[in-house]
Amino acid sequence: MFYTKAVSEQNQTIHIQMKQIKIGVIGGGLMGREAASAFGRWFALKNFPVEAQLTAVCDLNEEALEWYRQVPTVTLFTKDYKELINSELVDVVYAAVPHHLHQQVYTDILKAGKDLLGEKPFGIDLPASKIILSEAQKRGRFVRCSSELPFLPGPQRVIREVASGRLGKIFEIKAGFLHSSDMDPAKPVNWKRQSAYCGAIGVMGDLGMHALHIPLRLGWKPVQVYAQLQKIITSRPDGKGGHTECDTWNNVTLSTKVVIDGNEVPMQLEMKRLAPGETNTWYIEVYGTNGGVRYSTKDMKALWVFENGKEQWWKRTDLGFQMPFECITGGIFEAGFPDCFMQMLAAFVAEREGFLNNRFGCVTPEEAVMSHELFQAALQSQMTEAAVRIS
Ligand SMILES: NC(=O)c1ccc[n+]([C@@H]2O[C@H](COP(=O)([O-])OP(=O)(O)OC[C@H]3O[C@@H](n4cnc5c(N)ncnc54)[C@H](O)[C@@H]3O)[C@@H](O)[C@H]2O)c1
Repeated sequence: MFYTKAVSEQNQTIHIQMKQIKIGVIGGGLMGREAASAFGRWFALKNFPVEAQLTAVCDLNEEALEWYRQVPTVTLFTKDYKELINSELVDVVYAAVPHHLHQQVYTDILKAGKDLLGEKPFGIDLPASKIILSEAQKRGRFVRCSSELPFLPGPQRVIREVASGRLGKIFEIKAGFLHSSDMDPAKPVNWKRQSAYCGAIGVMGDLGMHALHIPLRLGWKPVQVYAQLQKIITSRPDGKGGHTECDTWNNVTLSTKVVIDGNEVPMQLEMKRLAPGETNTWYIEVYGTNGGVRYSTKDMKALWVFENGKEQWWKRTDLGFQMPFECITGGIFEAGFPDCFMQMLAAFVAEREGFLNNRFGCVTPEEAVMSHELFQAALQSQMTEAAVRIS
C-alpha cells in the first residue's frame, strides 16, 4: 500500500511517497517486545520512505500475547503461527522463538510466501541453517538474520577505519560478547541453558553471531579453530523448589585464523555467560602495523583509534548519534540498545526495498551458515583437543 506524507524540511513542506509494509511477530517474548517497541516509534526515522507497521503477533503463551493488546496497530493475536503466516495482514515476519523451532518455523514462513527476519543462531545447528538457506534460495524470498550491535556508531566507525586502509597490515583481531548474569547460581533455568532447546553449540548459539557479524562482513571467515569450551554451572533452580540439569556450554574461547591479503592472522573470539561484571559487553579490536581501532559497549560512546609513530597514541573520541539511518534524535545524544535494534530493522526494510545504498546490512543467511560452520568445527576441536580446519 502507498500513501503520501507531508514532512517539514528546513522550513519547507515536502511530500514523500510512503510505502506501508505489514509485519508479523512470531515469538512474543523478550525480543518480540523489543521489535514491537522499535516499530512503535518508526516515525523517529527521518525521510524513511517505508512505514513498517506491526499488525500481527503469535505466541503460545496467553500472557505474552496479552502484552501486545496495548499496541494499537496489532489486530491479529494468535497461538497458531500458521494462521499468522497465511494472513493477508502480514508481508514480513520477525521470528524470535527458541532455537529448536527455527528450522520448522523459518521454512514454513518461506513456504507461505513471506519474507523473514529470523533471530540467530538461524537454526539449532549447521544442517538446520543450511536447510533454511536452501529454502530461502528456492523460494526467492528476502531473508536476513538478526544482529543489532554493529549498527551502533562505534562499530560503524571500526568498519570505516578498517576499510580506509589506514591500519596498514592487519596482524591481530579480537572480538567477543560477554554476559555475567549466570554468575548468579540462584538464577532459574530457562530454555537457553538446555541443549535440547538451545542447541549443542550452547553459548555460541546465543552470542556467537553477534561477535562474528563484522568479521564475516569484512571477509574474515575463520579457516581454522582451536576451541576451549567450558561447562561451569551444570544445575539450576527449576522454579518448583528443585534443581534441574543445565547441559549447555557456558563459556567459549575460540582461537581462530583468518586470511587477510594472503596473510594468516589470529582472530580471538570470546562468547561467555560467566564473565564477571559484564552485563552485555560486545567488543571488537583490530590491530595493524600503522594503526589500530577498538570499541566496546562497556564504554558506549568511546571510540579508540591508535596512531603509530615516534610516539604511540591511543586517541579517544566521544561519539554521538551517528547512525546509518538518520533519526530525529540530536547528533550529540547517546545511542543505546533499543536504537541499534531499530537501526537493524531499518536496514532490513531498506535492503528489502532496494535503498540500503552502501549502508551496513543485516546478517545474510550465507553468513549465518558460515557462523554455524565455525561452531561445528569448535565442537569438534573441543572433542579432539586439536585445531580444526574449516573449508
Ligand atoms: N538479537 C538479540 O540481541 C537477541 C537477544 C536475545 C535473544 N535472541 C534470540 O531471539 C530468539 C528468542 O529469544 P527470546 O530471548 O526472545 O526468548 P523468550 O523465551 O523471551 O521468547 C520466546 C517466545 O517464543 C514463544 N514460543 C515458543 N514456542 C512457540 C511457538 N511454537 N509458536 C509461537 N511462539 C512460541 C514463547 O512462548 C516465548 O514467549 C532466540 O533465537 C534467541 O537466540 C536475540
